[in-house]
Amino acid sequence: MIGPTLALVLAVTDPHSLGNPEQVKPTHIELDLTLDFEAKRIRGMADLTLAYAKGPAPTFLALDSDALEIARVTDLATGGRLAFTFEPPIPLLGQRLRITLPGSRPKRLRIAYRTSPNASALQWLEARQTTSGKLPFLLTQAQAIHARSFVPCIDSPGVRVTYDALVHVPPGMVAVMSAEHALDDPVKGLFRFHMPQAIPPYLIALAAGEIVFRAVGPRTGVYAEPDVVERAASEFADMEKMVAVAESLCGRYAWGRWDVIVLPPSFPFGGMENPRLTFATPTLLAGDRSLVNVVAHELAHSWSGNLVTNATWGDFWLNEGFTNYLNLRIVESIYGRAFAEQQELLAQRDLREIVADPKTPGGDTQLALDLTGRDPDDGPPSSIPYDKGASFLRVLEVHFGRTRLDAFLRDYFARNAFSSMTTDRFLEILKRDLFRGDDAAWREVHVEEWVHGRGLPDNIIVPASKSFDLTRAAATSFAKDGATDGIQSEWTTAEWQDFLGALPHDLTTAQMAALDGRFHLSQAGNSEILFSWLRHVVWSAYEPGYPSLEGFLTRQGRRKFLRPLYEDMEAKPQTRDLGRRIYAKARPGYHPICVATIDALLQ
Ligand code: BES
Ligand code: ZN
Repeated sequence: MIGPTLALVLAVTDPHSLGNPEQVKPTHIELDLTLDFEAKRIRGMADLTLAYAKGPAPTFLALDSDALEIARVTDLATGGRLAFTFEPPIPLLGQRLRITLPGSRPKRLRIAYRTSPNASALQWLEARQTTSGKLPFLLTQAQAIHARSFVPCIDSPGVRVTYDALVHVPPGMVAVMSAEHALDDPVKGLFRFHMPQAIPPYLIALAAGEIVFRAVGPRTGVYAEPDVVERAASEFADMEKMVAVAESLCGRYAWGRWDVIVLPPSFPFGGMENPRLTFATPTLLAGDRSLVNVVAHELAHSWSGNLVTNATWGDFWLNEGFTNYLNLRIVESIYGRAFAEQQELLAQRDLREIVADPKTPGGDTQLALDLTGRDPDDGPPSSIPYDKGASFLRVLEVHFGRTRLDAFLRDYFARNAFSSMTTDRFLEILKRDLFRGDDAAWREVHVEEWVHGRGLPDNIIVPASKSFDLTRAAATSFAKDGATDGIQSEWTTAEWQDFLGALPHDLTTAQMAALDGRFHLSQAGNSEILFSWLRHVVWSAYEPGYPSLEGFLTRQGRRKFLRPLYEDMEAKPQTRDLGRRIYAKARPGYHPICVATIDALLQ
């Protein structure tokens, strides 16, 4: 076993960062940023406080950067300029910014810089792309490796910083960050933030626009555009309960407040766990709280991910698998066992399909991965780290019982808070603290096979949701002879997802018309149901569904919904032109992360 001291000095090399943290690294970043909506640039200064390793003074500081324009670097103690160079760009990673250091180990540096209009983390929306249409909007998305496109830093999940920020916005606009508000002055357009806890740079986040706030509970609330905020507050009315349940499972909530900001529809993810302030897509606003498991997921990251962080993107399952497991526990406690089982079954079905799909490289079905040379945003299908990961924790739960697993998890979060974790280190802790060295149990649970093996070990635990028996039966009989009597319009969102997911991919035009005529699926207001339906619209080349498909792809930009639909349209001669035509129209409204994904897909 590696003791804590030795573990500290063992530097983990992150293949997605060009920094030299084993010699020198920033520990605190002070930002002074001005948002220039006309030029689509952030201009400002980043003051970096540096920490040096023991040993000879390093001759340079290496930072990650992507398309940053640096005006100058100064030593804040002397005011003297420091020389810097950009090394040649490396595909995916950006450019190493190499700042020459004098032998005196300067403690604080100031980098004066501006971002590029093409910064991959930033989306600048015109006023007309927002709900109220009055002010433009800026939103950031730094995970996995985009922080480097708006903050000069060592952009590795293993290198943590605290941060302060002063943000200047046009008058009337409100800025929010993944930090405490230290001062809000919308009249002057000045906002000050303070993040006293050390976080990895991928959790630095900023949004600015016409944003208002509604409290949900004493330490929870929602931010959104004025027209959206009431709907958001009622959709997420259970936030306070969620924090209470999560604390009972994982230990004290470390971040003070938990708010959610519902962003304009181009936000590329369902949710993003920015500390103190979850970023969320408006496609969660179903009106019936049926999609709130996404915000519960982001809350769970407050422990798995934000407190104990994957050391590299190859250890991503430590963030997402744990979080998905905790998410299931949280929603079970609030919405009941059936709700949680339905979520888990849906996830496991996708997981089985991905594992069985000949297009999935076998090596990608392992939890622990080496992503060297690969874009972590386009890594293995998310079912593997998310749902194979969660299924592994479920196996541990059933083997040891909830009491022991929960105690283990609380202890794991408490002892490793504010640090990063590798898969190997986690396995050591697991063996020592949960298995208490019991090798026979280790083999019985197939731990190595779960983490390092391919596919799905056969001790996976399949939940038994009775309600899916009905949706499966309805799907089978509908596929066979078009019978619709088993289909119930009052099904839950998950039941509709299950039913639509269980139908064959080659429904006839008559079958599609029958479903649509009776259940108005092309008009579904629930984004998950509509998405599951639109996949059939593409598979069956069902023309009456095309306007709905086009509407969906142009009014929101969640990558999980875009990628499969464009991919399937591209693969099919009947829909290929349609896909390209819709994309040409929708592309200017998508976030750079989605543009990169879909551009690559359509070459
Ligand atoms: N942290 C992820 C989003 C992410 C992952 C962004 C990797 C960039 C790179 C977030 O917590 C997440 O998993 N969101 C999911 C929702 C969840 C319920 C599966 C999403 O956006 O769909
Ligand atoms: Zn997540």
